[in-house]
Amino acid sequence: MTAQTPDATLAEPQSLAGKSVSLERLSKRYAGIRALDSLDLALPAGAFCTLLGPSGSGKTTVLKLVAGFETPSEGAVRIDGRDVAAVPASARNIGMVFQNYALFPHMSVAQNVAFGLEMRRLGRAEVARRVRDGLALVDLAGYDDRLPRQLSGGQQQRVALARALVIRPDILLMDEPLGALDKGLRQSLQVELKRLHARVGVTVLFVTHDQEEALHLSDLVAVLNHGRLQQVGPPEALYNRPENTFVAGFLGDCTLLPGTVACAGDRPVLRLADGTLLAAGRIAPGLTAGADAVLGVRPESVAVSPHVPAAADTVNRLPAQVDTAIFSGNSYRILLHAAGQTVSATLPNTRNRTVPPPGTPVHLTFTHTDAFILAA
Ligand SMILES: Nc1ncnc2c1ncn2[C@@H]1O[C@H](COP(=O)(O)OP(=O)(O)OP(=O)(O)O)[C@@H](O)[C@H]1O
Ligand SMILES: [Mg+2]
Repeated sequence: MTAQTPDATLAEPQSLAGKSVSLERLSKRYAGIRALDSLDLALPAGAFCTLLGPSGSGKTTVLKLVAGFETPSEGAVRIDGRDVAAVPASARNIGMVFQNYALFPHMSVAQNVAFGLEMRRLGRAEVARRVRDGLALVDLAGYDDRLPRQLSGGQQQRVALARALVIRPDILLMDEPLGALDKGLRQSLQVELKRLHARVGVTVLFVTHDQEEALHLSDLVAVLNHGRLQQVGPPEALYNRPENTFVAGFLGDCTLLPGTVACAGDRPVLRLADGTLLAAGRIAPGLTAGADAVLGVRPESVAVSPHVPAAADTVNRLPAQVDTAIFSGNSYRILLHAAGQTVSATLPNTRNRTVPPPGTPVHLTFTHTDAFILAA
């Protein structure tokens, strides 16, 4: 046998790019509860896609429908364009890793990883080869004979990942696989997951309610709330161009200042209750002058200065007063009172940084291109 790298044997041509998944007006009701409401979502072959949303928003329901553990109330799941309604779960070639996907406690690591291969009646030599390659892929070569209870939580999750990957799935479903781990381990497994995805090439549908995790890992993020899709796009697009206040608030910090639209069109302006006019780079489609709306701006876009800023028509200016400063390691989050509202700003924790004490009068500025107007 020629020497092969683990990834070369796992990533055979048929599984190299995974398969596309498209969800079409997919709905699921459980005895009157709308768990999922007319979801349209297209996952390109080989993409790393994340479903992000609060508890009860329908994330696990989507995975169950894709896996074939539940049947849709309406709509369709297509894999590579083909409606899989009539394809049983066992024939969909999908790998799964869940938050507490218990490994079989009485079986060794190798036996756990071999399980799905033996179910598929692969020959002994092939099973042994794939188990070895699978464990090498998740950096657990040599752990074959350990029992799950002799592994750390992160190692157990890596065994679960190896077990899902050795069957060479077209699609890998992961439901909060890192949820039970501490922050450090979580972050290092995030890096490993990204690296693995790049090497193995499988379409991943990943579930989390952790927005940072979603931003770190994904090619595409779909935000769900109450079973409905709020927005889908690359992480940068969702963060920089949220389409509604739920997405703006769920992904990262965002100050939302209520007011009315003073001017729609291509130089949109919002009027605050005290009459202050603030310019924005974008306005949600359909908003017209006079509509109730909010102006959103990220804390890192807001500059805090003790001086009155120079006039410039692209800059929004607000007199403010420091409320509190929260130290968070690499930065300070400053909460300020401005125009009767609370505005959040980030100051990087650089050398010689002085943080203005509570009560200090300051001036806030942000450029209009960093602000967006959304429906209230
Ligand atoms: N088998 C079931 N019977 C009845 N209702 C259900 C069932 N499964 C899920 N639900 C309901 O459907 C909704 C969506 O549930 P789902 O498990 O998809 O949420 P989730 O986004 O995965 O939440 P979490 O982050 O808490 O895991 C919830 O209101 C839930 O109570
Ligand atoms: Mg869930």
